[in-house]
Amino acid sequence: MNYGSFSPDGREFIISEPRTPRPWFNYIWNGEYTGLISHTGGGFSFCASPRDNRVTRMRYNSLPWDRPGRYVILKDLETGKFWSLSWAPTLDLAYDRYECRHGQGYTQITTEIFGIRAQITYFVPNQINAEVWRVQLTNLSNRDRPLEVYSFVELVMGNALNDLINQPNDKHFTDIHFDPSSQALVATRRYWVLNRGVSVKQPNMDWQYQVHFHQTLPISGFDGSLDRFIGRWRSEANPIAIEHSQMGNSEITAGDPVVALQSRVELAAHQSLDFAVVLEITPKNQSPQLIQNSLAVDLLDQLFQDLHQKWRQYLSHIHAETPHPQFNLSINIWNPYQAAVTFDMARNAGYYHGGLLFGNGIRDQFQDILGMVIAEPARVRSRLLQALKFQFQDGSTLHNFFKFTQTGEKTNHSDTPLWIPFGIVEYLNETGDFSILDQQVAFYDQGQGSVYDHLIQAITYVLSNLSDRGMQKIRNGDWNDTLDYIGPEGKGETVWGTCFLGYILQKVFPLLRHLNDQMHLAEFEQAYEHLQQVLNQFCWDGAWYVRAFRDDRSVVGSHQDPQGQIFLNAQSWAVISGLATPERAKMAIASCVQHLSTPYGMQIVSPSYTQVEDNTGLISRCVPGKKENGAVFNHASSWFVLAAILNNQIELAWQVYEQMLPANSAFDRDRYEVEPYVFAEYVTSPDHPTQGQASHSWLTGTAVWMLRIGLDYILGLRPQLGGMVIDPHIPAAWQRVRVQRKFRGKLIDLTIHNSQGLNSGVQSLRVNGKQLQGNFLHLDPETENLTVEVELGK
Ligand code: NOJ
Repeated sequence: MNYGSFSPDGREFIISEPRTPRPWFNYIWNGEYTGLISHTGGGFSFCASPRDNRVTRMRYNSLPWDRPGRYVILKDLETGKFWSLSWAPTLDLAYDRYECRHGQGYTQITTEIFGIRAQITYFVPNQINAEVWRVQLTNLSNRDRPLEVYSFVELVMGNALNDLINQPNDKHFTDIHFDPSSQALVATRRYWVLNRGVSVKQPNMDWQYQVHFHQTLPISGFDGSLDRFIGRWRSEANPIAIEHSQMGNSEITAGDPVVALQSRVELAAHQSLDFAVVLEITPKNQSPQLIQNSLAVDLLDQLFQDLHQKWRQYLSHIHAETPHPQFNLSINIWNPYQAAVTFDMARNAGYYHGGLLFGNGIRDQFQDILGMVIAEPARVRSRLLQALKFQFQDGSTLHNFFKFTQTGEKTNHSDTPLWIPFGIVEYLNETGDFSILDQQVAFYDQGQGSVYDHLIQAITYVLSNLSDRGMQKIRNGDWNDTLDYIGPEGKGETVWGTCFLGYILQKVFPLLRHLNDQMHLAEFEQAYEHLQQVLNQFCWDGAWYVRAFRDDRSVVGSHQDPQGQIFLNAQSWAVISGLATPERAKMAIASCVQHLSTPYGMQIVSPSYTQVEDNTGLISRCVPGKKENGAVFNHASSWFVLAAILNNQIELAWQVYEQMLPANSAFDRDRYEVEPYVFAEYVTSPDHPTQGQASHSWLTGTAVWMLRIGLDYILGLRPQLGGMVIDPHIPAAWQRVRVQRKFRGKLIDLTIHNSQGLNSGVQSLRVNGKQLQGNFLHLDPETENLTVEVELGK
């Protein structure tokens, strides 16, 4: 089954059959207030932190998966029947129509049943920490309809982990009352478990917020007690208050919290009714901005228009017209949209990242800027400055952090510090804003330094902790979190990490030259050359590079191993870093093609581990074919695309890129299961019986890398410190491509002519009608926009 398809303009994914293999989610958020919303209205909300400041509840490990949610239920007072406007939780009824549209920052569900059409649109306004459920009802029947409207959502208010593990105690601090003046339920908690993890010792503080819940109809009843509203031995599918049309008007000072409101309306034949439900969170001493008696829905509609405007603006930075509609759809809309989600969420709160454990990953955060920096560099600048605060004076970093507590773990993953220079250089390439380098930022432990100091310290830290033969030590893992027991004694080495270090060194050379920092340039160039020598002396296995060396120097990722023989990342990054010799680069890529190709992209390792190896780590405990143990791990697969491009194997690169596009890898949606409009972290490889099944949709580094590989390398607009390189690498079948890309306040309008059916090579380049030597655009401050015509040729 297909379950849905894109709208003609590509901006919405329209789900037409609600029984999808899994809940298909969207995000509604403004950078602070965030909701996950499934196509049935399920999902939860939080403000700034999904662990520490959860607003509404998710019932983990329950079936169906997306309960509870944000529900509006209608009751027909003539028949006594009641139904949800979002299908769940009353899904056993025969709906005449169901449609869910996931768009940028909103989800709209339309249903028809019992002669009533209902449309509910969920969104979060740009500047206000609130969620709006905007409803339109239409009476399709010929008679007047007396109805009741019930809206409700379960609350957490505070620490979501505590709600999960200590709810019977946690419910002694809730407080909900009905405020007659605003006609809203006002909920709070007199206790906030804002600690660093699970702990017996508890802090002594107030939850500093209030939740206000309002329905823009005359209120006829309310409940703050979940027990009272739902009733005994019932669920959200059949609350007793709705069945008996009898709200308890319960206000609680202890108990499981819900906010539930009831209104009675009369809907005349063929008439429509507009109303909204609004949930807003404010600090305790502040009044809400939206919640008030007689709130006008027009105001909310204006906020919805503002939201559209924000997304139009965000998506206006890239527009590609290639002969490949799915590529266009991805690069113009859904890929940048997903990148905006990962920028704010990192790996923090998704449906497969429960928002309880991880916080924001440093390595993830510094990669996730790659998408947002094109459209909103100022936000990226401030995010970089925040994230740098988690770096220690010696250059090492926390691995992850939580916003409220400003805490995290120092896990000693070997790659984490090196993502700092990565992010800073990418920011500079996009913006040319060198002023950030002078900005002072405190170190996490002591002292402070400029952003440039932070950058240099990160590299220096890694360079001063190399193994005795000059490779990067793996310590507790590298990018691959599951290679976590290779070097417990601190001697094991990572080949991928060695390449990554080489890549980072190379990445900062132009900056060091620009700043005339000859001392570091000389030091880093020498280090790079040494890595080149070491990689090629110790790490070549005959047809590919090995992946790692254990403390005792035994090898991981060799043809001599019965399992885990060849790892994708070691090959890709030997090429990306420029450390591989040209001949070995070619062989390494050929070996990947031979051993790691699947219909969905490239497997991360093969053969997948079937026997546990205690001295390798978690990878070998995971079932074969899933996650890091041999799945098509899209993040890694995208790097292979980049490596193939850099190795001038453009058709190969394109083949893998195309396979990975969600529209393709999700071609069998029942098998694929998760959302077909965004990249998933992994697709199960043929090493597992469920091959083709994907998981961990939305929150994956794949999003930004696929976006930037598509934009920078395939379409070929690659920002650098001094301007923009134009260097396309397109499939030979593409004869003409047009790309518009905003860059440093200008619009570059590029047309690529490929009459000879080539893959790359800029034969001639004209800018605003004038022939230019080379393929580098220095941005003339006088020129507003640049019309660029490129002819590919040898
Ligand atoms: C998911 C993690 O969030 C990411 O940081 C890591 O690099 C990959 N897993 C690979 O292990």
